[in-house]
Amino acid sequence: MHVLITGGSSGIGAATALAYGKAGARVTITYNTGADRAAEVVKRIEEAGGGAAAVHLDLEDHSTIAPAAAQAGPVDALVANAVRWGTIMPNSVAFEGIPAAEWSAALHANVVGNALLVQAVLPGMRRRGFGRIVFVSSGAAEEGLPGPGVYGTAKMALHGMARALAWDAGKDGVLVNVAVAGLTVTERERPVSQEALDAIAGHTPSRRLSTADDLAELIVFLGSEANRNLTGEIIRDGSNAGRSAHVL
Ligand SMILES: NC(=O)c1ccc[n+]([C@@H]2O[C@H](COP(=O)([O-])OP(=O)(O)OC[C@H]3O[C@@H](n4cnc5c(N)ncnc54)[C@H](OP(=O)(O)O)[C@@H]3O)[C@@H](O)[C@H]2O)c1
Repeated sequence: MHVLITGGSSGIGAATALAYGKAGARVTITYNTGADRAAEVVKRIEEAGGGAAAVHLDLEDHSTIAPAAAQAGPVDALVANAVRWGTIMPNSVAFEGIPAAEWSAALHANVVGNALLVQAVLPGMRRRGFGRIVFVSSGAAEEGLPGPGVYGTAKMALHGMARALAWDAGKDGVLVNVAVAGLTVTERERPVSQEALDAIAGHTPSRRLSTADDLAELIVFLGSEANRNLTGEIIRDGSNAGRSAHVL
């Protein structure tokens, strides 16, 4: 199996690439600014005996999307994980303070960019009669976050895209799902205190925040042959806690 994972140079994407590699898949990851970090992920997969490559893709620059998919070659699974974070959560900014340009940029990258990426890989999946697509979303889509909501709005659009695609491509053997991450512990530094993280963990069913590796296992399941006929589903990881963001 060959998997294309966007945003594989760090966090959940890197953990997912490593997990696919361990499971015996060949992996192509994309990076935007983190060529060195992407090379490190490729090296780790290769050292563990797997096959991996890295290509550049910038969701904000649509001209990079089809070439990145072409460079990757035919893929059996796509993990649409990369995100243009943009303006997420400055509580100090009111909804009416977000300029139209920020709305456009967020939707241009995170919605239209992912649609174009799917368009680049889907014809091949249809022809081969097999495909798995996993969108990585956020609890911010359904629950919202304090702050202006551009990020969550763009993520929610991916839920609609996934459900439409599930109908569109299911007859051709392509299954499409959404893995919804809650607050997930990665190496990225957060503007959130340990106290706040602990408080949010306390509002989850399992009383803990997921790690990038936890998400990776979910994504690998959804995006592999082990997923035999689950499609059009929005799967919420246990790190999602009802209204927990409002602890912040
Ligand atoms: N971590 C969480 O708590 C959490 C919670 C909910 C949802 N999520 C979702 O999980 C996914 C991964 O998050 P993460 O925490 O692992 O993030 P991360 O560590 O910041 O990684 C983001 C990835 O996206 C890439 N990227 C950034 N801007 C891009 C652009 N314009 N075009 C293409 N790629 C771009 C980055 O590439 P470079 O580094 O190479 O520039 C990086 O590989 C995202 O979809 C995010 O919304 C995360």
